[in-house]
Amino acid sequence: HHIQWDVQAAQKGGYKHFMLKEIFEQPRVITDCMTGRVDWQRKEVSLPELDALPVPRRLHIVACGTSYHAGMWGRHLLENWAQIPVNVEIASEFRYRNPILDPDDVILVISQSGETADTLAGLRIARERGIRVIGLCNVVGSSIARESDTVIYTQAGPEISVASTKAMCSQMTVLTLMALAWGKRKGCLADDILQNAVTGLSKLPGQLEMELPRMRSEAQSIARQYSSARSFFFLGRGQCYPLALEGALKLKEISYIHAEGYASGEMKHGPIALIDPAFPTFALALSDGLYSKVKSNLEEVQARSGKIIALANPGHDLNVDHTWIIPEAWGPLGSFLALPALQLFSYEAADYLGKDVDQPRNLAKSVTVE
Ligand code: AGP
Repeated sequence: HHIQWDVQAAQKGGYKHFMLKEIFEQPRVITDCMTGRVDWQRKEVSLPELDALPVPRRLHIVACGTSYHAGMWGRHLLENWAQIPVNVEIASEFRYRNPILDPDDVILVISQSGETADTLAGLRIARERGIRVIGLCNVVGSSIARESDTVIYTQAGPEISVASTKAMCSQMTVLTLMALAWGKRKGCLADDILQNAVTGLSKLPGQLEMELPRMRSEAQSIARQYSSARSFFFLGRGQCYPLALEGALKLKEISYIHAEGYASGEMKHGPIALIDPAFPTFALALSDGLYSKVKSNLEEVQARSGKIIALANPGHDLNVDHTWIIPEAWGPLGSFLALPALQLFSYEAADYLGKDVDQPRNLAKSVTVE
């Protein structure tokens, strides 16, 4: 009697798709990313790679796709905690602009693969002009890793699925640590923020591990209910705005459902005209400082008979078609629990619609041509 031996199936470790496996790896990814970088006893953060460099006066983050969304997310923390002015730009735009770069500026390129052509071109422009480049990469020894002045690895392990999931989680983790480390060095980070952030980070992997199975079944039931929609809005504000963009990107890339990510506050400037009962909205309405603003944006959508699914924390007072409750985490760390919910929603929609989740049409894992 012979056992059927399939290498791919073995690599998927019992999961139906690499994407699902990689989503479920995120608790471990966060842990690995913090190993050797966070001193849990003394509640200190250090990125040894950055020790030799001065804290940047100004930072330009250059990336594509999901890595760009991670950069947009990180900007808030770098500005709030380290008081560093940050400009975030899509690499294909950055490379053909004439960006004003100061000799003291630093370019942070973010790339999972380290091979994305536009991001690599952005890096080379910076280097030609004598600007220091920090690379945030996952693939060890990749072109971007080799050509950066300083490289920080995300340590997420190989990402096989074309749709990037755990890479974003690891990029967000490193960006959080960078903002804390630089803020501390500059002396502008309040002690209680550092303490709360470190405590919050220590709890994240366990919280996520506990929550993922429940999140998946919730994603499954909502995806089944809504995957006949032709279009979706994904809305968020503040740090949830880049997550809304990412939720929309994931949905279009693997399920081929049209989706637009928008800053909730922009809806009334045009897009709300599209709302009707067949055009649902997936809203990020976490209990952060912008909750009440998001809530009133959603009421405007409801007034146009738009259906709403809202990702919220316990204690919310929303009255929408479907509230999806996820656990709370300290401050901006709530994003680490919202991101997998978005990923699972797209995954379940694509799988339900019978799409090739790991190999979506027209896409390659890394875009090595312009
Ligand atoms: C995300 O799901 C994508 N497939 C894509 O947007 C990707 O994030 C982008 O091409 C950037 O890749 P990189 O991180 O390897 O540079």
